[in-house]
Amino acid sequence: MTTVNVGIIGLGSWGECHVEAYRSLPNVRIAAICDTREERLAEIGDRFGIETRSRYTHYEEMLERSDLDLVSVVTFEKDHLTPTLAALAGCKHVLVEKPITTRLKEAKEMYDAAVRHDRHLLPGHLLRFDPRYMDIHRSIRSGSLGKPVSMYFKRSRQRSLFDTYCRTNTVYELTVHDLDLAIWYADSPVKSVQAYGRHVSGSTAPEVLWVNLEFENGILAVLHSNWMTPDKAGIAINDAVEVIGDTGIAHFETASGGLQVWNNSGRFNPDFHIHHTADGIVYGALREQLQYICNCIVQGTEPSLISFTDAIRVIEAADAIVLSCETGQRIELGCS
Ligand SMILES: NC(=O)c1ccc[n+]([C@@H]2O[C@H](COP(=O)([O-])OP(=O)(O)OC[C@H]3O[C@@H](n4cnc5c(N)ncnc54)[C@H](O)[C@@H]3O)[C@@H](O)[C@H]2O)c1
Repeated sequence: MTTVNVGIIGLGSWGECHVEAYRSLPNVRIAAICDTREERLAEIGDRFGIETRSRYTHYEEMLERSDLDLVSVVTFEKDHLTPTLAALAGCKHVLVEKPITTRLKEAKEMYDAAVRHDRHLLPGHLLRFDPRYMDIHRSIRSGSLGKPVSMYFKRSRQRSLFDTYCRTNTVYELTVHDLDLAIWYADSPVKSVQAYGRHVSGSTAPEVLWVNLEFENGILAVLHSNWMTPDKAGIAINDAVEVIGDTGIAHFETASGGLQVWNNSGRFNPDFHIHHTADGIVYGALREQLQYICNCIVQGTEPSLISFTDAIRVIEAADAIVLSCETGQRIELGCS
């Protein structure tokens, strides 16, 4: 096989990024797209030149195609299970966006189906493909920071995005990225969580979430996620990481570096690391992640940089975080 034929289910704001990123890859053909909203399907199909007969409003019909090798599931957070199971049953490899699900039982069902059908099942934990996060992982594994002791992760997004994403608890929407990184870096099961949420506008999901994690190997982590960046500040992504080892520290903050544009509309600090397009060129961790997966499929190699088993641990920890917020208690994993 030299070309990977891809189908994409869900063409919202992030599904569109999948279309852009796949289109930029040399060994990939977007063979089919699907969205339940006909206008959106037509808009994306027309914009990216995808022929009418390759556009679907029902994923079941799309998955009847025998030419699909890989399917991206980019539907609403709580609706990843059925398209994922259907794609695996149709013998397609699947990239399921984060959160893989908001229900632990479903994550295990997906995993079992992937094993049964002998297909790759890959969580959309794309920060493992951002060179800054990758380098910290490499530093930890090489021992250049010494023995890790403490980790801090901050993820802040603009307030207006909360209008859409309050549909999902903040831990599944934002913190899952940091849970995946923390588990990847610590290389140890989570022992306990204690979490605090603040519901600034009264929404079911907290705008501010603080999480303390303790790993079995003694590493401590603090994860702070929020939807509080004022839109007028012009900062798309305001994240930070600090990993402290007994002989070194790795640290970066996204908002303090990079391009600043100041004009009559105000100030804007765009992000180039996650997904960015300029003059038809696509950059970012999403593209790197998709390229990696497609290369693994073409070469018949294991996509060992990503782990669905870790993704299941992420959802286990996320569930414990929700419980801790509700009860005010520290939750021991495996004992709840
Ligand atoms: N990895 C990342 O950094 C990242 C970034 C943004 C979003 N996401 C994730 O991507 C997923 C989608 O987010 P979004 O922002 O694009 O949401 P969105 O609301 O913009 O889009 C969801 C789309 O899915 C379509 N859809 C829903 N059910 C469908 C079905 N059964 N069949 C076909 N289409 C269906 C909807 O019509 C909509 O167009 C979420 O899980 C989100 O958390 C991941």
